[in-house]
Amino acid sequence: MSSDLIRAESKGNMQDFEKACKDFTWAQVEKEFDWSNGGVYNVAHEIIDRHAVSWRKNKIALYWIGPANEESKFTFGEMKNLTNRFANALTDVGAKKGDRVFIYMDRLPELYISTVGAMKLGAVSSPLFSALGPEAVKDRVLDAGAKFLITQPYLYKRIEPVADDLGELSHIIMVRNGPDDGVLPEKGTDYHAMMNAASDRFETVNMAPADPYVVHYTSGSTGKPKGVILGHKAMIQEYVTTKWVLDLREEDTYWCTADPGWVTGTSYGIVGPWLLGTSMVTFAGRFDPRTWYSIIERHGVTVWYTAPTALRMLMKAGNEVVKEYDFSKLRHICSVGEPLNAPVIHWGKEVFGKRIHDTWWQTETGAQMICNYPSMDIKPGSMGKPFPGVVAGIVDEDGKELPPMTQGMLAIRPGWPSMMVSIWRNAPKFREYFRVPGWFVSGDNAFMDKDGYYWFIGRADDVIKTSGERIGPFEVESALVEHPAVAEAGVIGKPDEVRGEIIKAFVILRDGFTPSEKLKVEISDFVKAKLSAFANPREIEFVDKLPKTRSGKIMRRVLKARELGLEVGDLNTMEE
Ligand code: WT7
Repeated sequence: MSSDLIRAESKGNMQDFEKACKDFTWAQVEKEFDWSNGGVYNVAHEIIDRHAVSWRKNKIALYWIGPANEESKFTFGEMKNLTNRFANALTDVGAKKGDRVFIYMDRLPELYISTVGAMKLGAVSSPLFSALGPEAVKDRVLDAGAKFLITQPYLYKRIEPVADDLGELSHIIMVRNGPDDGVLPEKGTDYHAMMNAASDRFETVNMAPADPYVVHYTSGSTGKPKGVILGHKAMIQEYVTTKWVLDLREEDTYWCTADPGWVTGTSYGIVGPWLLGTSMVTFAGRFDPRTWYSIIERHGVTVWYTAPTALRMLMKAGNEVVKEYDFSKLRHICSVGEPLNAPVIHWGKEVFGKRIHDTWWQTETGAQMICNYPSMDIKPGSMGKPFPGVVAGIVDEDGKELPPMTQGMLAIRPGWPSMMVSIWRNAPKFREYFRVPGWFVSGDNAFMDKDGYYWFIGRADDVIKTSGERIGPFEVESALVEHPAVAEAGVIGKPDEVRGEIIKAFVILRDGFTPSEKLKVEISDFVKAKLSAFANPREIEFVDKLPKTRSGKIMRRVLKARELGLEVGDLNTMEE
C-alpha cells in the first residue's frame, strides 16, 4: 500500500462524491427511463429504440473497425431497423421469450445486432468469446438448453466435432460474409437471407424487472462454468455508473476494449454507453500497441475502458511508441478485471497526462461497485470507494464487519439493481453467495483503509485471473486429463508481471510417456484446441505425485505455496 495520492483534476458528471452518496436513491435514477413514463420495460428499448425516435436517430451508435482496419458505421435509427429485423427473423424460426440465444462470433456488427435483437423479443442473449473451443461451447449450450446459435462458418467448423452433441440446439444461424464461406450445416440458416426476408417493424416485448436479458458463463474453483443471469433491471445501475464512473457525455466517442463474451463487454460495451445514447467504437482485431493507439487517435476516442494486462502490455511497448500518436482528445480512462498496480497508474499519468480510474466489480454484480471517480483523489493501487447506493463491507464468516486495516471477505449488502437474479438451473450455487447472513460474498479478500478506500488482496478461492480472464482450475484440469499422456493434473495461477497470473499445470504422466519440452507444447495446445485459446497452461511441470486430501482432492493451495516458496500451512488433511 503506497501513501501517494493523485488529486482529482475535474469534477465530472457526478460533481461531488460525498454529496452524491448522501442524496442518492435508486428510485431517483429510475425516473430517467422511458418505462417510468409508461414506456415498454426492456433494455433493448432503452438502448436503441428510444434514441431512434429522438434527434439521435441519425447519430452514430457504432463505429465498427475490422481486423484489417476496414470500417463501417451504424446510426441509432439503423440499429433499430436491424435489431427489429433480427427479432422478427428469430421469431420466425420459433424463438420465444425466455429462450437462450448464443451468439458465438467475432466482434462483427452482427454480434451487436443479434445480441440486442434477441433481447427485443425477451430472449436471454449470451455472447460467447470467439476464442472458445468446442468443449467450452458445448458445455454452455447444454447447460443453458439453448435452441439457437448465431455464428460464423469458420467458428462452426471449429465446433463441428461436437455438433451432434449439442442437446436441444435446433437452429444454427450463419453469418456468411465471404464468397468462400461454404455450405450450410444441416440445421443451418443463412443470416442475411433471414434478415432480408424479415420486416423492420417489431414491437419490443415488455419484461418484468427481474426477467433475464443476458447470461454469462463464468468460472468458480469447482465444476464447470455457471450461467450468471442478469435481469433487465440491471439497466438502472448500468446507466448511472456509465454516467458517473465512465463519465460519458453526449459528445463523447467511447471505446470499451472488452469482448461482449464477458460481462464488461455487455454491461459497458453495449448497454451502458447506449443507454446514454453515446457513440462507441468497437475493434474486431487483435491487440497490438500501434493499432490500439491509432484507433484512439483516428476516431478521437475521449473515454476509454480497458484492462490492467492491456495497459501493462502498452507500458512494455515503451514511451516512444506513445509519442507517435495524438491523445489530445482522450479525456477519461478506466480499468477493470484485475488489480491495477500503482506503477501502471503513474505511467498513464506520465504518457497520457491522465489518471487511470480503477473499478472493481464481477460478473455476478452485473455493474461497477467499487470505483474511482473523477472528483475523488486516487490512491494508486486502491480500487476506490463503493458507488453511491452500494453498501460494501469487509466481513468475517459470521457477517461481522471488521475494522479498517483488517483483511477479510469483501462483501456487499444485497439489493443493488444489477445483482445477478439467479444462476441458471443451479439454485445451490446461487445460495452459496449469500451464505453469510445479510451479505453477498464476492469471493475476494480485501481491506478498507481509514479513509474508506478499498484495497484488493486476492481471491479467497482457487479461481485464476490471467490477462483479466477468469479461469476455473477444474476446467483446465479436466481438459488436461483427457490428453492420452496425462494421468493426473493440478492447476494454479502463478503470479506474472504482465498478465497478473499465468496458468501453471503440474502433471503426472501415464506410464510409457517420457517428459519432454515437445510433450509440454503438445499438451498445452491440446487444452487450447479443446477449451479455449486463453485457458491453456503457459507453464507445465511434470511431477511424480500431487498433494491430495485424504478424500483424494488435489490441494492446489499446497501447489501454490510451494511454487511461491511459502509456508504450506496446515497440512492436517493431506495424504501425500
Ligand atoms: C473478479 C471478477 C466485471 C469485470 C470483469 C471481471 C477480479 C475485477 C478488479 C479490480 C482487482 C479485480 C476479482 C473479481 N477483479 N476487478 N479492479 N481489482 N481485482 O469480472 O470475470 O467476473 O471477475 O475479477 O477477483 O472477483 P469477472
